[in-house]
Amino acid sequence: MDRRKFIATSFAAGAAASLASSTARAADKKSVNIVGVSCSPRKGKTTATSIKVALEAAKTVDPQIETQLLDLGGMNISVWSGGADPTDAELPKDDFELKVLPMLRNPVPDGLIIGSPSYFRSMSALCKVFLDRIAVLRSPKLLLANKPVGVLSVGAYRNGGQELVIEQIQTVMLCHEVMIIGGKPPAHQGATLWNAYNDDIMKDEFGIASAKKLGERVAEAALRLTQK
Ligand SMILES: Cc1cc2nc3c(=O)[nH]c(=O)nc-3n(C[C@H](O)[C@H](O)[C@H](O)COP(=O)(O)O)c2cc1C
Repeated sequence: MDRRKFIATSFAAGAAASLASSTARAADKKSVNIVGVSCSPRKGKTTATSIKVALEAAKTVDPQIETQLLDLGGMNISVWSGGADPTDAELPKDDFELKVLPMLRNPVPDGLIIGSPSYFRSMSALCKVFLDRIAVLRSPKLLLANKPVGVLSVGAYRNGGQELVIEQIQTVMLCHEVMIIGGKPPAHQGATLWNAYNDDIMKDEFGIASAKKLGERVAEAALRLTQK
């Protein structure tokens, strides 16, 4: 083989090998799934929009990130007073069983972003019933353990209890042994949004920026925690 032919053949073989190895690496990379849960009874309103903003920001972190919105608005989710270890027969057959649980159990998300409106400086009742019902994800195995969880809250007042709501939700999630992810300065607790423009939450520049930062941080944490 002459010298020029030899170089061309070697180059082609090297390029093919490198393409094969990068394709194998890409196949190795599984998607990292982040679910955003909107806990306002008003479907598609300011809390849901804020969650969507956080999820969109999460996707910009890495092509592996995939997101899903779980909007609880309009869903029929019963309060539940079962024991800590319910049997399937004891659980109410409502939207939680039919729509919510499948998104949280099959498969278990790699990260969660939970949002609630501030209702009298507390989480919404819908948020509390959601948090009570996900008790089933703790037993027999802590399915959410070590998953990153970020929280956001929307209020109609600038200081309407958003940080208190975030803290309440974080407190509950500690019972799942999750990794709590805070926000970035100047919203350290999570993302705090102010519905001051007649439900047009996109006009709250500060709050929207805090939602984006929260989404990015949850995505970064989910990527690190899923790396083997
Ligand atoms: C029962 C109730 C209580 C509320 N209490 C507060 C409050 O304590 N602080 C506040 O800032 N906003 C309060 N709000 C306003 C909501 O937090 C605000 O409108 C929020 O944007 C609603 O979220 P959504 O658009 O996703 O439904 C309250 C609203 C309702 C219906």
